[in-house]
Amino acid sequence: MRRTMVAGNWKMHGTRASVAELIDGLRNLNLPKDVEIAVFPSELFIDRVINGLEDAPILVGAQDAAIESKQGALTGEISPEQLVGAGCKFVLIGHSERRLILGESNETLNRKFAAAQASGLTPVLCIGETLEQREAGQTLEVVERQLNAVIDEFGIDVLASAVIAYEPVWAIGTGLTATPQQAQDVHAAIRAQLAQKNPEVAQGVRLLYGGSVKAANAVELFSMPDIDGGLIGGASLNADEFGAICRAAGN
Ligand code: 13P
Repeated sequence: MRRTMVAGNWKMHGTRASVAELIDGLRNLNLPKDVEIAVFPSELFIDRVINGLEDAPILVGAQDAAIESKQGALTGEISPEQLVGAGCKFVLIGHSERRLILGESNETLNRKFAAAQASGLTPVLCIGETLEQREAGQTLEVVERQLNAVIDEFGIDVLASAVIAYEPVWAIGTGLTATPQQAQDVHAAIRAQLAQKNPEVAQGVRLLYGGSVKAANAVELFSMPDIDGGLIGGASLNADEFGAICRAAGN
């Protein structure tokens, strides 16, 4: 049985004041026990969020980590090992904003993926097509290529200790959500692709959907058989809205 997960990606948002308010709001939520919940604050606030949520059933992840697992001479970077030391459990790898705006290549992402796993962080590998690629009918080919970049280098088994997030780029921050059926179709195709290589890994790996998820559309999306939860951007900055999305994922 795959445990549903709801993850909040705060992206490059937050001030000392707004993060304190968000922590307070999250601490007071009524959250479902059967859902794994995590937030991904800006690295500036990770320590504070981990301390603030110590007694709450909410885990913390990082939005990025270095290509080397151990600390060392790499100016400006934070190593997975440091993140583990701080109390992080997850790290986002390959978010489309990093692939497309910052130009992160599959090679770099693979190094980050491996470094994360070497330190005991669970990578949340983000994949998804642009609008242009969807309109050209290339969606499945694109997500398959993004997944294969990892599988071809490390083998399929590494996905047993990872989470995959399908985030169509055209649905991120646009208010345009993939319909539950559109998302389900891609999730089912991803699972089928993985099943050809290892049915057990395919059955066990969690596939999150991301892209304009809100409380109002979460129930329908999460009711799809291959959607195991969500990666939430904008709506995760509001504790009440995020709480409602978490409850939508509960049974
Ligand atoms: P939005 O929920 O704001 O569309 O962002 C989704 C996302 O990119 C989460 O990683």
